Amino acid sequence: MADFKEIWKHRIAGALNALLAEADSTERIDTASVSAEYPPRPEQGDLGFPMFAFAKKLKKSPQLIAAGIAARFAAASDATGQGGEEVFALGPYVNVRLNRGESAAALLSELLDRSKPAGRPETLVGSRIMVEFSSPNTNKPLHLGHLRNDVLGESVSRILKAAGAELRKVCIFNDRGIHICKSMLAYKEQGAGKTPESEGIKSDHFVGDFYVAFHRMAAGDTAVEERARELLRKWEAGDEETTALWRTMNQWAVDGMKATYARTGVSFDQYYFESQTYLLGKEEVLKGLEAGIFYRAGDGSVWVDLSAENLDKKVLLRKDGTSIYITQDIGTAIYRHEDWAFDRLVYVVGSEQQYHFQVLFTILKKLRFPWAKDLYHLSYGMVNLPDGKMKSREGTVVDADDLIDSLKEMALAEIRKKEREEEVGDPLAVAEKIALGALHYYLLSVSPAKDMLFNPQESLSFNGNTGPYLQYMGARISSMLQKAGAQGLAADGPFNAALLSGDAEWELVKILGNYRAAVAQAAETLDSSVLATYLYELSKAFSRFYHDCPILNAPSAELGAARLALSRAVLRVLRDAFELVCIPFLETM
Ligand code: ARG
Repeated sequence: MADFKEIWKHRIAGALNALLAEADSTERIDTASVSAEYPPRPEQGDLGFPMFAFAKKLKKSPQLIAAGIAARFAAASDATGQGGEEVFALGPYVNVRLNRGESAAALLSELLDRSKPAGRPETLVGSRIMVEFSSPNTNKPLHLGHLRNDVLGESVSRILKAAGAELRKVCIFNDRGIHICKSMLAYKEQGAGKTPESEGIKSDHFVGDFYVAFHRMAAGDTAVEERARELLRKWEAGDEETTALWRTMNQWAVDGMKATYARTGVSFDQYYFESQTYLLGKEEVLKGLEAGIFYRAGDGSVWVDLSAENLDKKVLLRKDGTSIYITQDIGTAIYRHEDWAFDRLVYVVGSEQQYHFQVLFTILKKLRFPWAKDLYHLSYGMVNLPDGKMKSREGTVVDADDLIDSLKEMALAEIRKKEREEEVGDPLAVAEKIALGALHYYLLSVSPAKDMLFNPQESLSFNGNTGPYLQYMGARISSMLQKAGAQGLAADGPFNAALLSGDAEWELVKILGNYRAAVAQAAETLDSSVLATYLYELSKAFSRFYHDCPILNAPSAELGAARLALSRAVLRVLRDAFELVCIPFLETM
């Protein structure tokens, strides 16, 4: 993409090197060391390059360097008779005023080229990245925290892929252990014979209800916990009846969660199951024990001492030889690397597990896996609803499906209130897409590390920094383009971009020109909020343009065609970025 900033960084570096050569210096300045800024006032041009960093190499003041560079560009454009851009010194800065028409032409011809996607930085070409996300336990349905996890994982994966990485999205179901046995026990004792079908309940909710029931049972009776532990022992011993029940209930849980993934547009290239990797973890721990990296305590349990790494001692196998959470993660990581040799493995997991991942990565380093340094925990903060914390044990958890249902209902009510049922075609389908747009955008517009409140009402607002506002902008542009078509204006007819030189048009062109850099930055920082912010800026700029610059009633047909082309480019970038932040696109709303 015509990335004006990058192009000019390159040109400025070239001019700096020419100055060095003139001074008979053997030093070099590379493009990456040139930084660019946006000048605060319009009369200062479109880009500014500070010269401070080069004073030492050039043995000159930044002011003199800036003047020297401006002079070089002035001479060059005189000589070739080209240019159209202005390069001038502003104290210690070299500033550039771009040629609006030419820049717009270059940018639009790229953005409207249908053979290529809109803004694709190639910063990650050649790297193989695995992203693990969601990774629920199979004892209860997905909740609001998972919705943040899921959209972060899905969006970051799409962004990394857009930046050129080869990508693998994976999910591990933590499908064994005491928590699973708890719902199994409650089912055994209170639910035998019932099925999700017989009760008419979504299958993961059905399982979750028994998890809640377990806690009710256990409240007045300590023997209940013991019976759950007994069930775990039976499971570990391979007891047939227990594994059969386990299989059935896990299938219910997994099927239900997959339905939610499908609904929210989340998908995986591969599912792993803890029940299939925990023994591998156990093996690796025993190998480490033999190698003297771990040690056995008096009671037979196996430990690692990480005090030299400023961490604690950590148990890896219980005294009865059973595995714990981390044992499984050791096995899973090794198995995954054998499966698909990644350059990087990103774990999207809540911030409350920071210590767990520190310990895990340190253990894998101690075991001398060379790829242990390529593991990264993308930690994210808590999400709460404004009325209070989510609680899971008591069954007052903010359930993912229920939350989306109620957002959908609210969106539907809004469509009805505005009497737009006819226009939108299928009100239910549109309401669902608005709900997902609202939810996903809201969750992604906060940087992952921060805790946040999800405010359903606010997320659905049509004005302000929300998903539906962006969707509405997309729908407005779509319907305008449709109208243009109806008036006989060709969808991709010829246009003269040089006409796009007004301030509102130029603002919009410049923001479009930043798209690729925004994708690159989001990929580098693993932070989708960079694109959320970008989308909001783009929409606001389009709004100003739309207000200031009539399109279908432009003063001349030629100007109208150019503005139409600009609108098409905006729509293309908008749609592309929607995809990266998991906002469904709507033609009408
Ligand atoms: N199932 C775990 C939980 O719900 C999260 C798993 C995160 N991934 C991992 N590889 N440990 O807390």
